[in-house]
Amino acid sequence: MPILSINDETIRQAAAHIARGGIAAFPTETVYGLGADAFNPDALAMIFEIKNRPRFDPLIVHIAALGALEKIADLSMLDTDTRKKLDALTEKFWPGPLTLILPKQQTVPDLATSGLPTVAVRLPSLASARQLIALSSGAVAAPSANPFGCLSPTSAQHVLAMLGDKVEIILDGGPAQVGLESTVLDICGGQPRILRPGGIPKEAIETVTGPLAERQPLNDTVISPGMMKSHYAPRASLEARDLETMIKTPAEEKCAFLFFDGASRDKWLKKQKQPHDSLSIKTLSETGNITEAAARFFQSLHELDKPELCRIYAQFAPQEGLGAAINDRLQKASHI
Ligand code: TXA
Ligand code: MG
Repeated sequence: MPILSINDETIRQAAAHIARGGIAAFPTETVYGLGADAFNPDALAMIFEIKNRPRFDPLIVHIAALGALEKIADLSMLDTDTRKKLDALTEKFWPGPLTLILPKQQTVPDLATSGLPTVAVRLPSLASARQLIALSSGAVAAPSANPFGCLSPTSAQHVLAMLGDKVEIILDGGPAQVGLESTVLDICGGQPRILRPGGIPKEAIETVTGPLAERQPLNDTVISPGMMKSHYAPRASLEARDLETMIKTPAEEKCAFLFFDGASRDKWLKKQKQPHDSLSIKTLSETGNITEAAARFFQSLHELDKPELCRIYAQFAPQEGLGAAINDRLQKASHI
């Protein structure tokens, strides 16, 4: 059983494993990551293999302290204005769920960045994650610890169920606090632009940077592979709907329903004529609290995604704050 309860000793053990070229799964505040030494191309190759991830999808390099940023990113390439934005962003949001796309240092292996001239860097806020990074190589490449395209893992049990036969160490730090991946923000191509909505809402970033460039619509020209249409998907087919359409959707056998809040669920329940299986209905937040909803999002989909199930109907969240990231995941999960 690769699961180890997280403590100083197991963190040291996992760090030594990564430093030796091994792979270890570990918690961050967003989701669980699959960590490898960012400077070890063999270990990076193993990450792609374990996840069955296409080589064109670059990884995020995680650091333990701001001082390590220049080992990963070549900040001399930034103009003065961008440099100011970078400082303001790191000051406000690091450590935390914000990943920044920056010009890469030549020493960062091409495998980490899929040959791009840029690198994604993140300084996580979970102290145990920083401890692990600092004790291993100081730079840990870590994608979410799930097979490519599948639901993201927000607990050690999710990692065990999806990758348990392929990973030697899974550190168990309990449920991930934020529950959605970091926001990926590109700041090296002019006006900053979100490539993937996530744990830091657009509105919060704009208080620091001013207006962000529009996100590209989902299409086949992929700038960040996290923008790909089909991603974060459960095994059952998923249909994301607004409340109005959801209310018109009758309970059927082998279908599950995921509501954003209790009031929406109760409106839907009132319309139901047939008795229904209460196990196949979940609510992200009884009171409609967006932070709670985000934290429970992947966990709820993992719980609903039973083999006997054919379809999950999921209600969109309000399109503000973390709701934008929930809706992004719902849209991508439903494009199969
Ligand atoms: O919260 C998170 O970010 C988690 C935890 C473990 O830190 N990690 C994570 O990694 O979500 P991953 O590999 O599942 O997603 C990384 C995203 C992908 O969408 C990838 O395409 C994008 O970051 N990315 C990485 N490097 C990039 C680059 N140079 N340019 C554009 N996008 C990049
Ligand atoms: Mg991922």
